[in-house]
Amino acid sequence: MRKKIIAGNWKMNKSLEDGLALASEVTNMASDEVSSEVTMIMCTPDIHLSAVSGIAKDATNVTVGAQNMSEHESGAYTGDLSAEMIISAGASFVIIGHSERREYHFETNQQLADRVKLAIAKGLTPIFCCGESLETREANEHVGFVNNQLKESLFDLSAEDMKKVVIAYEPIWAIGTGVTASSDQAQEMHLSIRNSLAGQFGQEVADEISILYGGSMKPANAQELLAQPDVDGGLIGGASLKARDFIDIAKSY
Ligand code: 13P
Repeated sequence: MRKKIIAGNWKMNKSLEDGLALASEVTNMASDEVSSEVTMIMCTPDIHLSAVSGIAKDATNVTVGAQNMSEHESGAYTGDLSAEMIISAGASFVIIGHSERREYHFETNQQLADRVKLAIAKGLTPIFCCGESLETREANEHVGFVNNQLKESLFDLSAEDMKKVVIAYEPIWAIGTGVTASSDQAQEMHLSIRNSLAGQFGQEVADEISILYGGSMKPANAQELLAQPDVDGGLIGGASLKARDFIDIAKSY
């Protein structure tokens, strides 16, 4: 059975002090309130990873992830973060290809393909992000656009490695806007993503991959989105910055 995952992407928010307070609250509340079937992930700013990992290390259903990773193993890449650094800071997941990185840092599908491969080779679980702009959706090109992102970044993987990837479908028009995809729109795209993976890797592999929805997910809409058969969790931005909201989303299963 595929994993249920509720991941928080803190983006560039929280001082170390505030981040540690949030991580403690989430970790304590998760152990009391959230089903052990749900994996919760806090994807923190790089500089908080080690300390947040320390807080989450004894939790059974809370773990830690980074928000980005270099495609290079090490070397003269000022300001970048390697897979080994992420692992040595105690994290086990890494977001790859968030739309904000694609837009502001011009990350390409090929670069993301290299990062996904390196993350897997080093033992990290990539959370690979895909999703279309409003313009692409209005032109009714969203299915083809997302399929191309999958093809160019993931289709070179072996079936065994593909099973180690988590996918997050995040329509750009729903991120931070308060506009959520309807549960029908989310299910349509998640099914399309799964079918596309099945076409390349086989149905058995596709059925094992967790596909998360991201974009203005909050306690008020989580239950309906998470009830869709191909929505296996969420990647949550704004609502992951408040422990109560983040936990309530995880309790919506
Ligand atoms: P919001 O939940 O703030 O819309 O952000 C979603 C997102 O980008 C998570 O990666």
